[in-house]
Amino acid sequence: MRATGSEAAPDFAIEQGWEDYSEAEHAIWRLLFERQAKLLAGRACREYLDGLGGLGVAADGIPDFRRLSDILERTTGWRIVAVPGLVPDAVFFGHLAQRRFPSTCFIRGRDQLDYLAEPDVFHDIFGHVPLLMNPVFADYMQAYGQGGLKAQGLGHLERLARLYWYTVEFGLIATPEGLRIYGSGILSSAGESVYCLEDPHPHRVGFDLRRVMRTRYRIDRFQDTYFVIDDFDQLFAATRPDFAPIYRELAALPDIEPDQLAADDRELGSGRCRRKKWAVAELGPSLGRKRLEDVR
Ligand code: CO
Repeated sequence: MRATGSEAAPDFAIEQGWEDYSEAEHAIWRLLFERQAKLLAGRACREYLDGLGGLGVAADGIPDFRRLSDILERTTGWRIVAVPGLVPDAVFFGHLAQRRFPSTCFIRGRDQLDYLAEPDVFHDIFGHVPLLMNPVFADYMQAYGQGGLKAQGLGHLERLARLYWYTVEFGLIATPEGLRIYGSGILSSAGESVYCLEDPHPHRVGFDLRRVMRTRYRIDRFQDTYFVIDDFDQLFAATRPDFAPIYRELAALPDIEPDQLAADDRELGSGRCRRKKWAVAELGPSLGRKRLEDVR
């Protein structure tokens, strides 16, 4: 257990206590980092990999938040604040609105390398922080914090939380080389970083704000549907309008199940699947039909 300080500040900020990490804890970071670094080459988006490099987040051990904050602050004006775990919604949004990213400090145990139910320092720092080096994504996260405070006042947090889930946590982005990952929940997961791009099961649907806000999600398994943005400018532009009338409009419409396709969905194949489909088309109709089923 890590010391969390006895008196909780109103913003839940604590000291990271970087000096107190044990060698065993740094070793878990190394293990996770090395595994993800291999998997994410050719799977994570360029903006993420650039951010990771720019911050100097590496295999050597759990990073010192003070060092990362100095680089972030110079680049996009963000800082990292250490928090003891999940914080109340209003506290979380308040931090984001002030360009402060709340990060947990503890690292998962060796028995939880593949899955844990709550965020740890590997998820928060390796998964979330690199994209905060990107100016457009950095602005999106701040706008989300401001939008969160507003949605809370309007009683529509559930719909806004879906937007966060399907973008910040589980978003995919289309690039000329094929689909790439930008969602932190995927970037910090070995299994899902392969599954989201290569498994035939999940739907990969073009991003649409209303569609996303209507879609329920599962927190206990890999996603059934991923939403694909064209670039971060598209995401920022789509979320710029006042959500108040959109919340009212959506309140009258039914939710969409996590695995359900909707009439207007633009389904996209992953980079790898699309290559397969092209190859198949050249092989003639009968084989083509069979193989298209394989890749859906
Ligand atoms: Co997260």
